[in-house]
Amino acid sequence: AKFLLLHGPNLNLLGTREPEVYGHTTLAEINQNLTEQALAAGHQLEAFQSNAEHELVDRIHNARGNTDFIIINPAAFTHSSVALRDALAGVAIPFIEVHLSNVHARESFRHHSYLSDLAVGVICGLGPMSYQLALQAAIQRI
Ligand code: DQA
Repeated sequence: AKFLLLHGPNLNLLGTREPEVYGHTTLAEINQNLTEQALAAGHQLEAFQSNAEHELVDRIHNARGNTDFIIINPAAFTHSSVALRDALAGVAIPFIEVHLSNVHARESFRHHSYLSDLAVGVICGLGPMSYQLALQAAIQRI
């Protein structure tokens, strides 16, 4: 199967960005790790990060017809983006929402997600393992 791993704004800074919150693992390491996890299970995974909402919306649109499952860390767009929500609803590709940090233990504006009620599931607070568990669950579902 074909998996798409999407990362929202500022996640390109992982490794150096607020390491006490987000850890020291870089985005390249997360992508590499998940690509290997997918390949080991006989699947394909493509990763894409953008700081621009419209690029993420476009990438979701382009996934229609060629992607079985999306794993997405929408980052700050989690809490603001009706457009990302509508894009995911529009293509109707199942997805899991992922966060490195436990958003529920942080500022109240991070407690609401525009995506969670559409997601197959939500995993947060486990650092890079949040992504690994999401892929494991996605593989099992398809
Ligand atoms: C995040 C949590 C969001 O609230 C924040 O805006 C991020 C990263 C996480 O992975 O913990 O940029 O999605």
